Amino acid sequence: LQHFLTIKKLENDQVKGLIERAEYFKAGGAVAEYSQPIYAVNMFFENSTRTHCSFEMAERKLGIQTIPFDPATSSVNKGETLYDTLLSLNSIGVNLAVIRHSKNEYYNDLINLNNTQKLNMGIINAGDGSGQHPSQCLLDMMTIHEQFGHFKGLKVAIIGDLTNSRVARSDMRLLQQLGAEIYFSGPEYWYSSEFEEFGKYGKVDELIDQMDVVILLRVQHERHQKEVSFSPTAYHSEYGLTIERYARMKERAIIMHPGPINRGVELASDLVEAPKSRFSMQMKNGVFMRMAMIEAVINGRGLGGEK
Ligand code: CP
Repeated sequence: LQHFLTIKKLENDQVKGLIERAEYFKAGGAVAEYSQPIYAVNMFFENSTRTHCSFEMAERKLGIQTIPFDPATSSVNKGETLYDTLLSLNSIGVNLAVIRHSKNEYYNDLINLNNTQKLNMGIINAGDGSGQHPSQCLLDMMTIHEQFGHFKGLKVAIIGDLTNSRVARSDMRLLQQLGAEIYFSGPEYWYSSEFEEFGKYGKVDELIDQMDVVILLRVQHERHQKEVSFSPTAYHSEYGLTIERYARMKERAIIMHPGPINRGVELASDLVEAPKSRFSMQMKNGVFMRMAMIEAVINGRGLGGEK
């Protein structure tokens, strides 16, 4: 791959290959030794803990040199465009940019669509607005695969703030492609026609004992244009994973959440580290999956020149 921007064009075999490679790294498999240094920059224009630190950890484990970049003190604040910023970093010698940005498909302004641009670096999308979150999606697939060994026929519920969720938009697409059955829940006003081709809407209480995987989404207040009055307690009681609902889940079912978690809202605080919770495993798997993704771009661009 030249870039890793979306999961939309990934074939099932590529997904399988990435999961296998991530599992190889997780099992302690050796990383490639590159004959020349590779330099990466992590540019997070939206807040992040997991994705940012996880990409940095993945880069370090792969032996990549990470160049610090802080949007708040960068010349972006003097009006420099993202493209010109990358052109500068590329001129300095940076080969890869991991970017999180609030603009959906921000990467269309960066990649060489008309062959007139000079930018010669791999772009890895760490989340674009409400668009896509490829690395979260693939680490989610890895975590589900680890539990069940397959995707076909698995019943997966995605519950919560669907409208604003790049995780929902990525996961639903790939899960459907891999043969899972998808259901949506949460406040009905967050379910729209966009989601209909991927799965049906149901009430949490009707779905919970049928599901193999329950993916809880954070209520993203920061993205709501006009905040309707929101009661965390009322949300939890109507749509959240309560202790009582958790007790009704299938024996082998798992719960996932991309984080950060609103304890007592999407789920009861006591469930964060419950036996069915895979939150820590998702974060752990994220490092290995990001290693696999970065490696795919390094190989795709012929950057490494393996020793
Ligand atoms: N899952 C996720 O994207 O978390 P961060 O926003 O902390 O990176």
